[in-house]
This record gives sequence, C-alpha cells and structure tokens, in this order.
Amino acid sequence: MASSSSSSLSNYDIPWVEKYRPNKVVDIVGNEDAVSRLQVIARDGNMPNIILSGPPGTGKTTSILALAHELLGPNYREGVLELNASDDRGIDVVRNKIKMFAQKKVTLPPGRHKVVILDEADSMTSGAQQALRRTMEIYSNSTRFALACNTSSKIIEPIQSRCALVRFSRLSDQQILGRLMVVVEAEKVPYVPEGLEAIIFTADGDMRQALNNLQATHSGFRFVNQENVFKVCDQPHPLHVKNIVRNVLEGKFDDACFGLKQLYDLGYSPTDIITTIFRIIKNYDMAEYLKLEFMKETGFAHMRICDGVGSYLQLCGLLAKLSMARETARAS
Ligand SMILES: Nc1ncnc2c1ncn2[C@@H]1O[C@H](COP(=O)(O)OP(=O)(O)OP(=O)(O)O)[C@@H](O)[C@H]1O
Ligand SMILES: [Mg+2]
Repeated sequence: MASSSSSSLSNYDIPWVEKYRPNKVVDIVGNEDAVSRLQVIARDGNMPNIILSGPPGTGKTTSILALAHELLGPNYREGVLELNASDDRGIDVVRNKIKMFAQKKVTLPPGRHKVVILDEADSMTSGAQQALRRTMEIYSNSTRFALACNTSSKIIEPIQSRCALVRFSRLSDQQILGRLMVVVEAEKVPYVPEGLEAIIFTADGDMRQALNNLQATHSGFRFVNQENVFKVCDQPHPLHVKNIVRNVLEGKFDDACFGLKQLYDLGYSPTDIITTIFRIIKNYDMAEYLKLEFMKETGFAHMRICDGVGSYLQLCGLLAKLSMARETARAS
C-alpha cells in the first residue's frame, strides 16, 4: 500500500516530457530522414562527428542520448562525456576536461568510439569552439563528437566542416497528435478532440511544449478541452482572433477593432496577438492573393512590434492595412 502510494506520487512528480522521452532512436517521431540516418549509424557502429540542428523540442537531445546508449550500451558511463549549456564550457574545459576524456583509455567493443556530447553547442564561445578543432582531429580514432544546437550558423565553420550536419525541423500536427494520443492513453487523461487540437495549435511544432501543455491542463483542470488549454497556455483564443479577421474580411472594421481592443485589454502581449493573427491568416480559407497580401502586412507589423513599438495603435494600423488590402482586391 505504502509503496503504491509513493509510486503514484513519484509518477505524478515526473514531468511527462521526461517520462515519455524515447529511449531508442526508432521511437523518435518525425524527421524521418534524420532519424533513419541516425539509425544507420546506430546499426553500423561507426559514428562520425555530427551536428544536430533544429528548433526546440523536436528531439535533438533525445536522439543523441538514444544514439549514445545504443552505441555503447553498458559502457555508457565510462564511454560518454556529456556537457550542456549548464556546464562550464569555456576554453579551459575544452583544453582540460575534454582533452583528458579523449586521452582516457576505455575498453569498448571493437569498432566503437568514446562519445563527447556537447548539447546546446550554440552557446559555446567561439574561442572554445576554436580550441575544439584540433582536438577533434587528433583523437578521431578513439573519440567522436555529437553536437546539438538550435542555429547551426552559431557553430564556427571549421567545426561544421568536420561534422555531418543533420537537420531537424518542426514536427507536423499529425506527428504531435500521434504522440499525444500515446500519452493521453497511458495517463488516462479525459479529453475532447478539440482540446488536443488546441494543444497542437499552441505548441506550433514543438513536442516538448505540447506535452507540457497537456500535463499542465490535466493537472490544472483534469479535463482537456479548448477553454482549459487556452487558459493554461495563456494565449489569445484563436476563435476570437478568427472573428477579428472575419470582421475585416466582411468590411466591419469597427467590430474588428473592438475585438482587438478586448484582447489587448485582457493583457495579451502584442507579440502573442500578432503571432496568433499570423497563424489564423495562414490557415484561413480566403483568396490566395489576398492571403499573401495579409501575410505581408502582418509580417511588417510584426517587425515593428519586434522593434519595440507594440502599441494598440500599431495593431489597429495593421487591421486598417488589411481592410485596405481587401478594398483594393475588391475594386480590381
Ligand atoms: N521527435 C520526438 N519524438 C518523441 N518525443 C519527442 C520528440 N521531440 C521531443 N520529444 C519530447 O520532448 C522532450 C524534449 O525533447 P528534446 O530534449 O529532445 O528537445 P531538443 O530538440 O533537444 O530541444 P532543445 O533545442 O530545446 O534542446 C523529450 O523529452 C520528449 O519527451
Ligand atoms: Mg536539447
């Protein structure tokens, strides 16, 4: 009894992103090209130096860890050096810790190499990256490097040229849904399909965010529906934003502005409002040339907001521009 209650407690405590982190490369969802390349590496055992790059929450860290586990199995502890942005990775660490690890003698199965994992490598200073160049070459017969980063351009060119680049992209709605269903079933989460849709909408291709939002909604409300999801995620409700866009398209400028004012007064940041507007427009059923025009104007407004001018006036100005685009489209 005691053990069951403590286990349910600990289950409750584990974030679902960790609980459902795939342990094997095959279990990683999406990015089929990247994953199949990694699977080949896991099978053959000869790992090249690699850089995984892509947006957050798409499975880079997960892939590297799974790959290292598959390559080294029981030797993982001695054979892998794992450093991420929370570790000091200045030039001294490259000179001492990484070099020492590369020189260390470890008995591994034939054809296997020690692995240095540098997660979030885009936060390494370029000095530290420079110091890595020669180390990567000198010890290449015994040690291989796996780097993960969000923007590959922050990795200096010489390192890029020593590595195979594997790109990850945002996951599709379908892929996220598939994974959510697995978790929903395992955790017995009560839901309605619209609730999962809302989670997918707010996650925008980021699996980590999708799982976190699912867990947050579940622990906050015990029921996953649209309302609860948007309350938890604190994003403007897409239906509300959709109404604004529809009013613009129907020529009801005042109503559109009123809807916008309501959102603004609720305290949503202009950035949240504009990104939701963009996503609504992208999926809105309207004439293509008009949609392109709308997206262009939204892009310009986004730029101004990013420059710091996030006033209600800017957002209203956007609605005015959209209304004018509609007028010109109708006139022509
Ligand atoms: N492709 C995927 N398949 C299954 N689960 C995934 C996938 N991508 C992410 N996840 C889930 O999201 C969590 C975070 O993923 P991961 O740490 O691999 O992201 P990341 O790509 O390294 O992101 P970051 O750039 O922020 O470090 C994992 O624990 C896992 O539960
Ligand atoms: Mg990561």
